[in-house]
Amino acid sequence: MVTHWLGVLLLSTLVSSRLFYQPSVRVARQTLVSSNGNADGKADNVTVDASAHHFKNGDGTIGMNVTSTGNATSGNGNAAGIGNTAEGQVGNNHIGSTGNITATGGNSEVFSNIFGDIYGETMAVNSMQQGKSFGTGDTAVQASGNANFTKNGEISPSASENNIANAGATGSDNSEAEVSSNQILTWDQLIAQLYGHAAGSGKTNAQANIDLGAGSQNNGIEVNGLVSGANQNGGQVNAEVEGKGSIDGSGHSLTGGMNGAVNGTGNSQLVGANNLQSNRTGTNTTISAFGDGKSSGDGDSSITLNSNSSANSNSGVSGQIDMQNAANGANKNMTVQNGLQVNDNKGGTLAIGYGEIKGNGTENSNANIGVNSQYDQNGHAQVNTTGTGSAVSNNQNSSLTMEGNAQISGPDGTKSGTATASGNVMGAYNNLTGTNQVVVGNNGANGNAHMEANGGGPGNSAAETKTDLILKNGNETRTSSVSGSVQATGDSTIVKSVSDVSDNNGVQTMSNFQHAVSSSKGSSSASASNSGWLKRRKRASLGVLFDRIV
Ligand SMILES: *[C@@H]1O[C@H](CO)[C@@H](O)[C@H](O)[C@H]1NC(C)=O
Ligand SMILES: *[C@@H]1O[C@H](CO)[C@@H](O)[C@H](O)[C@H]1NC(C)=O
Ligand SMILES: *[C@@H]1O[C@H](CO)[C@@H](O)[C@H](O)[C@H]1NC(C)=O
Ligand SMILES: *[C@@H]1O[C@H](CO)[C@@H](O)[C@H](O)[C@H]1NC(C)=O
Ligand SMILES: *[C@@H]1O[C@H](CO)[C@@H](O)[C@H](O)[C@H]1NC(C)=O
Ligand SMILES: *[C@@H]1O[C@H](CO)[C@@H](O)[C@H](O)[C@H]1NC(C)=O
Ligand SMILES: *[C@@H]1O[C@H](CO)[C@@H](O)[C@H](O)[C@H]1NC(C)=O
Ligand SMILES: *[C@@H]1O[C@H](CO)[C@@H](O)[C@H](O)[C@H]1NC(C)=O
Ligand SMILES: *[C@@H]1O[C@H](CO)[C@@H](O)[C@H](O)[C@H]1NC(C)=O
Ligand SMILES: *[C@@H]1O[C@H](CO)[C@@H](O)[C@H](O)[C@H]1NC(C)=O
Ligand SMILES: *[C@@H]1O[C@H](CO)[C@@H](O)[C@H](O)[C@H]1NC(C)=O
Ligand SMILES: *[C@@H]1O[C@H](CO)[C@@H](O)[C@H](O)[C@H]1NC(C)=O
Repeated sequence: MVTHWLGVLLLSTLVSSRLFYQPSVRVARQTLVSSNGNADGKADNVTVDASAHHFKNGDGTIGMNVTSTGNATSGNGNAAGIGNTAEGQVGNNHIGSTGNITATGGNSEVFSNIFGDIYGETMAVNSMQQGKSFGTGDTAVQASGNANFTKNGEISPSASENNIANAGATGSDNSEAEVSSNQILTWDQLIAQLYGHAAGSGKTNAQANIDLGAGSQNNGIEVNGLVSGANQNGGQVNAEVEGKGSIDGSGHSLTGGMNGAVNGTGNSQLVGANNLQSNRTGTNTTISAFGDGKSSGDGDSSITLNSNSSANSNSGVSGQIDMQNAANGANKNMTVQNGLQVNDNKGGTLAIGYGEIKGNGTENSNANIGVNSQYDQNGHAQVNTTGTGSAVSNNQNSSLTMEGNAQISGPDGTKSGTATASGNVMGAYNNLTGTNQVVVGNNGANGNAHMEANGGGPGNSAAETKTDLILKNGNETRTSSVSGSVQATGDSTIVKSVSDVSDNNGVQTMSNFQHAVSSSKGSSSASASNSGWLKRRKRASLGVLFDRIV
C-alpha cells in the first residue's frame, strides 16, 4: 500500500521593529519574516514533520527557525522518497535549501532533515539526507541537498550548489546501495560530509556505482566510482565501490575504494574506474584509477580488482590499483590493463600497466597476469606488470606469447618498459612455460623475460623461443633480445629451447640454450641455432651468450 503524506507549513509574520532612533524623529520599520518548510514523502510508511518559529527577543533581535523532516520506508520493491525544502527570510536575509532523496529496490529507507535558523544577521543551515536500499536485482539511492544564504541578494561564499549523493548496484544474489550527506553552513563556512557505498553480487553480471559531490566550483569535491563485471556462462561476479568526502571550511579530504571479482568459464570481463576531485580556489587536485581485465578460453578463469585512493588538502594524493587475471585451460587469451592519473602539486603523473597472454594447447595449464600501479604522497609512482604462462599439448603444436608493459609519465619525463616472451613447440608430448616482468618507477625501468620449450617422444620434434626487453628512460633506450630454435628428426626425439633476458639498473644478462637429441634405427638429425644481441643507445656491445649445442 502506498500512502502519501504532505506536511506544509507556511508562516508569514510582519514584526514591527524599531531599528534606530533619531533625536527628533522616531522611525518605525516593518521587517518581513517568513518561513516555508515542506516535506513531501511517498513510500509504504511515511512520517513528515515541518515546523517554524518566528520571534523577537527583548533586545529587539528578530529571528526565525524552520525545521522540515521526512522519514520514509518501503518494502516489497516499492520506492521510498522524501522531497524536502526549507526556506526562511528575515528582512533582507534569506535561507534556501532543498534535501531530496529517493530509494528504489527491495527494501528502502530514506531520511531527510533540514534545520534553518536566522537570528539577527546570523544565518545557519544544517541539512542531512541519508538512505539505503537492499535486496536483490537493482537497488539505487539518489539524494541532493543544495543550500545557500542571500543578504540583500548577494549569495553566501559557503553556498553548496553541487550537492549530490547517489549510489546504485545490480546483483542477482545481493544488491545494496547506501548514501549519506550532511551539510552545515554558516555565511562563510561550509562543513560537508559525504558517504556512499554500493555492492552487487550475482550470477552472470554485477555492478556497483557511486557519485558524490558537495560545495561549489571554487570550494567543491567530487567522488565517483564504478565497478562492473560479467561472465558469459553464469559465473560468480562481485562488484563493490565505496567513497567518502568532506569539506571542513577550506580543507578537503577524499577517499575511494573499489573491489571486484569475476569467476567462471568462457568469456569474462571486469572493469573499474573511480575519480576523486578537489577544487579549491586556484587549485585542482585529481586522482583517477582505472582498470580493465578480459579473459576468454576453454577453462576456468578468475579476474580480480582492488583499488584504494585518497586526496587530502594537507597530506596530498595517493592511490593504488591491483588487478590479477588467472586462467586454467588448454587455450587462453587474456589481458589486464590498469593505471592512475594524478593531477596534484607535484606536477601530475600518468602511470599505466598492460599485460597480455595468448596460449594454446590440448591440455589444461595455468596462466596469470598481475598489474599493479601505485602513487604515493611524495609523488613517487610505480607500475609492476608480471606474467606467468604455460601451454601443454599431446600430438599437436603448442604456442604461447606473453607481453607486459609499464609506463610512467611525470614531471621528470617518461619511463617505460616492455618484456615479451614467445615460443612454439611440436612433438608427441610438448610444453611451453614463460614468465615476464617489468617494474617502472621514478628511477627507471627494470625487467626480465623467460621462455622455455620442451618437446619429445615418438617421432620428430621442434621448438623455438624468443624473449625481448625494451627499457626506456627519457632518450636512453636499453634493449636485450634473444631467440633460438632447435629441431630433431628420427624415431624418438627430445628438444629443449630456452631464451632468457634480464636487465636490472642497466646490468643485462642473456641466456640462450638449445638442445636436441635424436635416436633412430635409420637416419636421424638434430640441429640448433640461436642469436642474441644487446643494444644501447650510446655504446653498442655484443652480449655474452652461453650456448650449449649437442
Ligand atoms: C529556534 O532556534 C533557537 C536557537 O537555536 C532555539 O533555542 C529554539 O528552541 C528553536 N525553536 C524552534 C521552534 O525550533
Ligand atoms: C525513520 O523511521 C524508521 C521506521 O519508523 C525508524 O526506525 C527510524 O528511527 C526513523 N529514523 C529517523 C531518523 O527518524
Ligand atoms: C510500516 O509500518 C507498519 C506498522 O508500523 C509495519 O508493520 C511495517 O513493517 C512497516 N513497513 C515498512 C516497510 O517499514
Ligand atoms: C525536491 O523536492 C521538491 C518537493 O518535492 C520538488 O519541488 C523539487 O523540484 C525537488 N528538487 C529536486 C532538485 O529534485
Ligand atoms: C539557493 O538555494 C535554493 C534552494 O536550493 C535554490 O532554489 C536557489 O536557486 C539557490 N540560489 C542561488 C543563487 O543559487
Ligand atoms: C571541479 O572543477 C571541474 C573542472 O573545472 C568541474 O568540471 C567540476 O564540476 C568541479 N567540481 C565541483 C564539485 O565544483
Ligand atoms: C573464485 O574462485 C576462487 C578459486 O576457486 C575462489 O577462491 C574465489 O573465492 C572465487 N571468487 C568468487 C567471487 O566466487
Ligand atoms: C581545473 O581542471 C580543469 C580540467 O582539468 C581545468 O580546465 C581548469 O583550468 C583547472 N583549474 C585550475 C584552477 O587549475
Ligand atoms: C583474443 O580476445 C580478443 C578479445 O578480447 C579478440 O579480439 C582476439 O581475436 C582474441 N584472439 C585470439 C587469438 O583468440
Ligand atoms: C596452436 O596455434 C598454432 C598456431 O596458430 C597452431 O599451429 C596449432 O595447431 C594450435 N594448437 C592447438 C592445440 O590448437
Ligand atoms: C611485482 O609484482 C610481483 C607479483 O605480484 C611481486 O612478486 C613483486 O614483489 C613486485 N615487485 C615490486 C618491485 O613491487
Ligand atoms: C614440460 O615438459 C618437461 C619435459 O618433459 C617436464 O619436465 C615439465 O614438467 C613439463 N612442464 C609442464 C608445465 O608440463
